[in-house]
Amino acid sequence: MAKYKIAWLPGDGIGVDVMDAAKIVLDKLRLEAEYIPGDIGWECWRAEANPLPDRTINLLKNTDCALFGAITSLPKQEAEAALIPELQGKGLVYASPIVRMRQEFNLRTNLRPCKAYPGNPLNYKEGIDIPVFRENTEDLYSGVEFFPLPDEVREAVKKHNKKMARFDIHPAGEVAVTLRINTKTACRNIVTDAFEYAMKYGYPSVTVVEKPNVMRETSGLMVRTAREVAKNYPAIKFWEANIDAICMWLIKNPNDYAVLVTSNMFGDIISDLCAQLVGGLGFASSGNIGDKYAVFEPTHGSAPKYAGQYKVNPIATFLSAKLMLDWLGETSMAGRLEAAIAAVIKEGKVRTYDMGGTSSTIDMAHAVAAKL
Ligand code: IPM
Ligand code: MG
Repeated sequence: MAKYKIAWLPGDGIGVDVMDAAKIVLDKLRLEAEYIPGDIGWECWRAEANPLPDRTINLLKNTDCALFGAITSLPKQEAEAALIPELQGKGLVYASPIVRMRQEFNLRTNLRPCKAYPGNPLNYKEGIDIPVFRENTEDLYSGVEFFPLPDEVREAVKKHNKKMARFDIHPAGEVAVTLRINTKTACRNIVTDAFEYAMKYGYPSVTVVEKPNVMRETSGLMVRTAREVAKNYPAIKFWEANIDAICMWLIKNPNDYAVLVTSNMFGDIISDLCAQLVGGLGFASSGNIGDKYAVFEPTHGSAPKYAGQYKVNPIATFLSAKLMLDWLGETSMAGRLEAAIAAVIKEGKVRTYDMGGTSSTIDMAHAVAAKL
């Protein structure tokens, strides 16, 4: 029997292309794993009105972790229009399967390392190395949303906060509300993970990124909790930054920063910014990590226009596989994989179109595999 059972979830669009490439690399590494394919994504939504079918949930429950490609997600109306005719007009609402997996499996930590590998022509500056820790289950992603705004909700909010009265002039059908829900437990966990990582890998600082001057309670809770946690790590510098300001500073002085830690929505935004500093989404890997399960995925979307062309850069997926190997405890294999990726980037002979080259997704896979 194989040592690991890994759910294999290509999803749709270029998810399929990059996962085919990842398989070449993992096979070369000879990871003792059984890869069990699972259905997820746009086709499941269109045909079954459920982009994360129960059979896939069961698959996740029976595997050690998952490697995931990409999925298309569209806003409400466009998603409904894509359903097969039999399923239309029933008020079915598309919910992003990756967000659902994060919440249902409590994959509370989203780790997004953003590292400028030497020789990458897309590096904004050399030497950038910014691991982003994004809280992964709460915040504006709570999914607790209202539209139209029910009267009871409006009245209850008004009773407890007089600022709500300002919206009285707007009828229910013209008010949309999303609750930003943050818990102390989640704040403590994500900040602790960020500090532990800084300790383990020798990063000099942890910066908590929020907006407590405006969102006094939610961002405030994160920053206050971070200050408490930081006291346990006197060897690591602790900084606080506002989300808007740090977007500017990261462009100006990216080398000043090391580990960043933030809530879900700000983490979504800042991790794209940091990814662009080190080559864009073709280099952006991520791990959705819980206590018992984890899902690894490139941060990019499904880029439907490139689907099946084997044109996109699979390095983000290889780096996600590297995070998976680390999480499984296969650290020496993870190190070999990262070294092989770094060597191919440095050599500069095999480059996908985003890097200014003409190599295919599969060429890149063979180039990395050849270094293993
Ligand atoms: C990401 C993506 C997802 C998110 C989308 C696809 C729902 O942008 O992983 O960063 O918003 O978290
Ligand atoms: Mg995103």
